[in-house]
Amino acid sequence: MESASLLSIRNVSNVYTDRRHGIFGKIEEKPVLNKINLEIEKGEIFGLTGKSGCGKSTLARCILGLIDYDGEIFICGEKNAGTEVIQMVFQDPGASLNPVKKIGWLMEEPLVIHRKNNAKERSQAVDEMLLRVGLDPSYKTRGVHELSGGQKQRVCIGRALILKPHLLIADEAISSLDVSAGAQILNLFRELHESFSLDILFISHNKDAVDYLCTRKAVMDKGEIKEI
Ligand SMILES: Nc1ncnc2c1ncn2[C@@H]1O[C@H](COP(=O)(O)OP(=O)(O)OP(=O)(O)O)[C@@H](O)[C@H]1O
Ligand SMILES: [Mg+2]
Repeated sequence: MESASLLSIRNVSNVYTDRRHGIFGKIEEKPVLNKINLEIEKGEIFGLTGKSGCGKSTLARCILGLIDYDGEIFICGEKNAGTEVIQMVFQDPGASLNPVKKIGWLMEEPLVIHRKNNAKERSQAVDEMLLRVGLDPSYKTRGVHELSGGQKQRVCIGRALILKPHLLIADEAISSLDVSAGAQILNLFRELHESFSLDILFISHNKDAVDYLCTRKAVMDKGEIKEI
């Protein structure tokens, strides 16, 4: 039997209900995704670009199972594969990290939530992951406010990867960073892809970044996808 695609999106449509005109007002249905079909194979960094508001983040939310949609999404051949196999990093790393916690705690948290390993193994996994994302393990005892934007994004990437997902979705992951920190994160993604076979769905306005990083590219326009 042919092995399943990493991600298979079939005929996915999504509509937002708009109650802008008050609870007694007319409810408007706003179509966002229009019968999207997309296959992403293992070994790819897939770039998705397109104008603001075209539906890129909405598609990411559908893949993660955070919102309802029509159609089907399979991850490694499975429906409802759960959040453990896909992880996401967002635009604003500062907002994704609880500011009162130390970096070590934040990195360990996904393992604690999913009841993985004992305390010693978790601590070792955190050390390894910090090194993997380019931070010294001594960062464990630092607070979030002591890190630069790029370093915070490295922590977010580490937190996402510590559960060993099949796919990382990076949604505008470099948009809040300056050019040099953004370029370093792109290089980190490439290194993680090459050394640890991490597959990535890279969503970005930044066409240059998509051209630099991605093995295959598509553009979304008004809820439809076209490969470029
Ligand atoms: N919760 C919501 N309720 C209603 N409409 C929404 C909601 N979230 C997004 N939308 C609308 O859906 C459309 C697609 O939004 P989405 O966030 O997916 O775009 P995007 O391509 O990620 O844009 P950007 O590049 O700015 O991040 C937009 O018109 C947006 O206004
Ligand atoms: Mg978006």
